[in-house]
Amino acid sequence: MASDTRDVVVDAAKFAVPRATVSAAGDQSAPGAAIDTQTIGQVTVQDPVMTARQVSVHYGAKKAIADVNIDIGRNSVIAFIGPSGCGKSTFLRCLNRMNDTIAAARVSGTITLDGKDIYDRSEDVVQLRARVGMVFQHPNPFPKSIFENIAYGPRIHGLAPTRADLDEIVQTSLRKAGLWDEVKDRLDQPGTGLSGGQQQRLCIARAIAVDPEVILMDEPCSALDPVATARVEDLIDELRQNYAIVIVTHNMQQAARVSQRTAYFHLGNVIEVGSTNQMFTNPRHKLTEDYITGRFG
Ligand SMILES: Nc1ncnc2c1ncn2[C@@H]1O[C@H](COP(=O)(O)OP(=O)(O)OP(=O)(O)O)[C@@H](O)[C@H]1O
Ligand SMILES: [Mg+2]
Repeated sequence: MASDTRDVVVDAAKFAVPRATVSAAGDQSAPGAAIDTQTIGQVTVQDPVMTARQVSVHYGAKKAIADVNIDIGRNSVIAFIGPSGCGKSTFLRCLNRMNDTIAAARVSGTITLDGKDIYDRSEDVVQLRARVGMVFQHPNPFPKSIFENIAYGPRIHGLAPTRADLDEIVQTSLRKAGLWDEVKDRLDQPGTGLSGGQQQRLCIARAIAVDPEVILMDEPCSALDPVATARVEDLIDELRQNYAIVIVTHNMQQAARVSQRTAYFHLGNVIEVGSTNQMFTNPRHKLTEDYITGRFG
């Protein structure tokens, strides 16, 4: 655990258990009705970029997550932690409708982006996945040049009317991802020829290139060595100036280093949400405490 987070004294009263005032999913007659989230801590934030209310996912008959309520704040990083199989990836995939690609998955509840229901029939899922980008555990560059890896998205989304615009987007995205200096002389070479850490930053640059609001990262460093991990963590900290970031991680130090809020998942439920300082120094739920102290999971 990062030493700078250990000795922070948190006033528990600041993290009073909310009776979150949210509209119950599917209950259009009672917008704003109070529901008991059963989650300890502050699930809501001011001016959230995304909100999830009563979100459940079934794979066939099996319930993977149950009644998840949480807000995603702008310009900040929220970490999802919890034991394997507790539904972190499942919930993350709800946020840009990646579960649509899994035939057995059935999502219920309400998720909004800038106040609009992303599961509405009118939603353009391709646009949604540009606005809510995703970076996976294993870097997955397209089998194309470094340039084309970045240029592909802006081109199909019509973001670059001219070649000069496209060049500009490619350069800016690679700069924001901290990769430009390492690749500027080899833009025509395959993205798959980069090191693992460089490939992951290429994938982050690819997500940035289509001007997202939110970037979802599912264990983005678990395939990287400590040096490459440190670079990606630094990058995450810079990126939050412009984006909301949701990161799933099994690395407690990483959650403590990069995030401002943390949510603890357990057997498909969000047990506790709070500021990362509070979660790691003064967890309020026994299950959270057992997990972050290594007694469970
Ligand atoms: N495509 C799928 N089809 C059927 N069941 C699935 C599928 N994906 C996940 N599950 C099940 O849903 C539950 C939650 O899985 P999920 O992958 O979301 O957990 P996780 O918290 O991300 O775990 P990990 O930390 O190991 O990545 C598990 O019981 C898992 O077996
Ligand atoms: Mg997972």
